[in-house]
Amino acid sequence: MPTAIFIDANGGQYEAEAKIGDTLMEVATENGIDGIIGECGGVMSCATCHVYVDNAWLDKLPPADEVEESMIDMAINPEDNSRLSCQITMTDDLNGIIVRMPVSQF
Ligand code: FES
Repeated sequence: MPTAIFIDANGGQYEAEAKIGDTLMEVATENGIDGIIGECGGVMSCATCHVYVDNAWLDKLPPADEVEESMIDMAINPEDNSRLSCQITMTDDLNGIIVRMPVSQF
């Protein structure tokens, strides 16, 4: 199983095993990782799953579509490496992906 690494705003680091095909938002919420809420369940209407993807991993992800981009604009403190974790689907290629969580999701 691939793993994903979540780092909170205070530097706390959490490693979680991910099922292939699950989204990073699902991995976080199923593993009780605070900092990712996923209020809308992954239908891109809340932006409470906002993460900053480590730059080393950004190129391995398919680009965000227009809907995701517009939702990221509504997130708190978006940056160039911002993504919605509900739109990142785990694959073997993403084993070890590192994402940082914002101070707040709203
Ligand atoms: Fe709502 Fe990702 S879970 S936009």
